[in-house]
Amino acid sequence: MVISIKDVSISRNAKYILKDIDWTVKDGEHWAILGLNGSGKTTLLNMINGYIFPSKGDVSVLGKSFGGYDLRELRKSIGWVSTALAEKLYGNETATEIVVSGRYASIGLFEDPMDEDVENSMEIMDLLDCGHLSDRLYNTLSQGEKQRVLIARGLMAKPELLILDEPCSGLDMFSREKLLSTIDKLGRSENAPTLIYVTHQTEEILPIFSHTLLMRRGEVHSKGYTKDLLTQENLTDFFETQVNCSISKDRYLVDFDI
Ligand SMILES: Nc1ncnc2c1ncn2[C@@H]1O[C@H](COP(=O)(O)OP(=O)(O)OP(=O)(O)O)[C@@H](O)[C@H]1O
Ligand SMILES: [Mg+2]
Repeated sequence: MVISIKDVSISRNAKYILKDIDWTVKDGEHWAILGLNGSGKTTLLNMINGYIFPSKGDVSVLGKSFGGYDLRELRKSIGWVSTALAEKLYGNETATEIVVSGRYASIGLFEDPMDEDVENSMEIMDLLDCGHLSDRLYNTLSQGEKQRVLIARGLMAKPELLILDEPCSGLDMFSREKLLSTIDKLGRSENAPTLIYVTHQTEEILPIFSHTLLMRRGEVHSKGYTKDLLTQENLTDFFETQVNCSISKDRYLVDFDI
């Protein structure tokens, strides 16, 4: 079991931001999480990383249940790519330094990187098609290039679980497709980590995401096989708006009238 969440609720200011969540992720599954702004996606991920605690319920990640376990150790087995993290990184480090820092789950490098780490970072950057950026300063990279470097950083500690929180936000349509094809390659690679991919857009849900969790107002609307959930009927119910859903090149396209 990679993630097990049982009957979890989190409240703030007498209001639920997550309510009665039950969700399990098994080895070999890759999940997409779809939900509108404010539906609780990032809160759920923050909880999986151990940054916030449930007001009620049980959480266990990679076989470790929360409470009584050193979460800093657990975090080393989880790669996490999010814009919140990106804002904390040092822009005047090179892409290589940023990637290597992922090995130690640290912000910034305090010593010169070891040769072995640099070699390893090059392999990962090549896998993510960003090896050519290794000597560039992070703050000189484009948004799409930064995202690749951040995913490479997330992979540096060889995580068992890789969480991608809206990795395509701010990318142009070509950069988005390039990044998605890289994620597809990664998800299919040997010994791939379990991927959790958070998005607002159905068309970003690649075929490798066998399962999907639909979040609405802090609750699970529905969960299960992606192909069973991303139907016109279920999405119309989920969005509370009549939508048309079609599949093109194995991707789900949704359109609607306002
Ligand atoms: N510490 C907090 N105190 C009060 N409300 C909070 C707190 N953290 C999150 N919330 C609220 O909980 C809701 C869910 O927030 P969250 O960031 O999880 O949404 P999200 O699904 O990631 O949205 P987005 O797609 O915009 O990133 C929001 O309404 C947010 O304002
Ligand atoms: Mg969010």
